[in-house]
Amino acid sequence: MVSSMGRHLVLTTFGESASKYVGAVIDGIPAGLPLSQEDLRFELGFRRTGRKLVSGRREEDNPDIVSGTYNGYTTGSPVTVMVRNSDPQPLLYRDVSHLPRPGHADLSFIKKYGRENWDYVGGGRSSARETLSRVIGGAVAKKLLMLAGTQVAAYLKSIGGRGDNDTVTFSEAMGSKRFPTRARNSEWDAEFSEIISRLFSEGDSAGGIVEVLASGVFPGMGDPVFWKIKSALASAIMSVPAATGFEYGLGFRSAGMKGSEASDSIVRDSSGDLRTERNLSGGILGGITTGSDIVVRCAFKPTSSIRKPAKTVDLDTMEPGSISVIGRHDPVVAVRGVAVAEAMVALVLADFYLYEGILPSSRISRAAAAEMEEKWKAYMKEYAQ
Ligand SMILES: Cc1cc2nc3c(=O)[nH]c(=O)nc-3n(C[C@H](O)[C@H](O)[C@H](O)COP(=O)(O)O)c2cc1C
Repeated sequence: MVSSMGRHLVLTTFGESASKYVGAVIDGIPAGLPLSQEDLRFELGFRRTGRKLVSGRREEDNPDIVSGTYNGYTTGSPVTVMVRNSDPQPLLYRDVSHLPRPGHADLSFIKKYGRENWDYVGGGRSSARETLSRVIGGAVAKKLLMLAGTQVAAYLKSIGGRGDNDTVTFSEAMGSKRFPTRARNSEWDAEFSEIISRLFSEGDSAGGIVEVLASGVFPGMGDPVFWKIKSALASAIMSVPAATGFEYGLGFRSAGMKGSEASDSIVRDSSGDLRTERNLSGGILGGITTGSDIVVRCAFKPTSSIRKPAKTVDLDTMEPGSISVIGRHDPVVAVRGVAVAEAMVALVLADFYLYEGILPSSRISRAAAAEMEEKWKAYMKEYAQ
């Protein structure tokens, strides 16, 4: 089972829905990065369960940094973070231990690993609990990127087809951190909240689209053939559970356009630098960053675990069966998926920054660390929940 991503900044995730701990090992972090439990807890707050509109699983998400730091700074060795699963409640799943859930990973897991090894509690390794480890990795990546003046922010663009195609600025995307649904403004937040509450009472779910933006991106990140930044981003985004689609820039819309419509003029900006006029390619051309904002989108499918009955096969009798999942589920996984998609983009960018030498591979100076930490503290203050 491959559980790692990245070449220079390598994230390994471990743990299952009901294991004692879940966590992350992050390798490739230069020495001298300030890193605290508070930094990680702050980022984890954006994917937390037990809030209105998301899964009712009550987890404290208390990250413990067990290796790789000394006096609050990374040492250059792997950083290991462990988080105790305090609310797994395996008994909740006992009644459905013979009923694989349509749309979840149960069917393929049983075929690959065998029923005898199937951890049916909350999806085992396929549980979205694993995404906590990604957000931990994303927190580290964001701090590294901040050293280089690059930031990443995502927001919820649509739910169940309700949303718009407006171009959203980076600061609007960042502003979504103030809203429970991660919509980009209060109007969409109110609308999304209403849709989610309705789905909840109907025992149903809906899909959604998350858009991720990165600003202050260095031009020239990515290679022309097999280490394209677009392919690394696609791979990272598509590894998120329930992700069913990836696009960047115009994405799928470009397939219905004429060349003249999709053409993005090359112009000079106020400082005389070259750029594209409309950034229709989402900050990437030829698999290499242009220096404009990166814009990628992730489609999330509707949550498969729903109260409305679904047909399956009873594994004990091998007769047709029916399953209605009455548990702790997200009516729209895309809401918490915002924090996860954001982390994935940050991890990919930090990986490329290390590869290209934009970030030092061995050591960060105390002066650079102090300057970054000041900005990071301001970010945490502004978006404190
Ligand atoms: C943040 C997040 C929360 C999720 N919550 C749930 C959930 O509550 N119930 C569920 O059935 N699936 C949930 N999922 C999706 C499943 O983990 C996913 O469908 C499953 O692993 C199968 O993978 P696939 O959909 O990519 O094929 C969630 C996904 C994410 C990213």
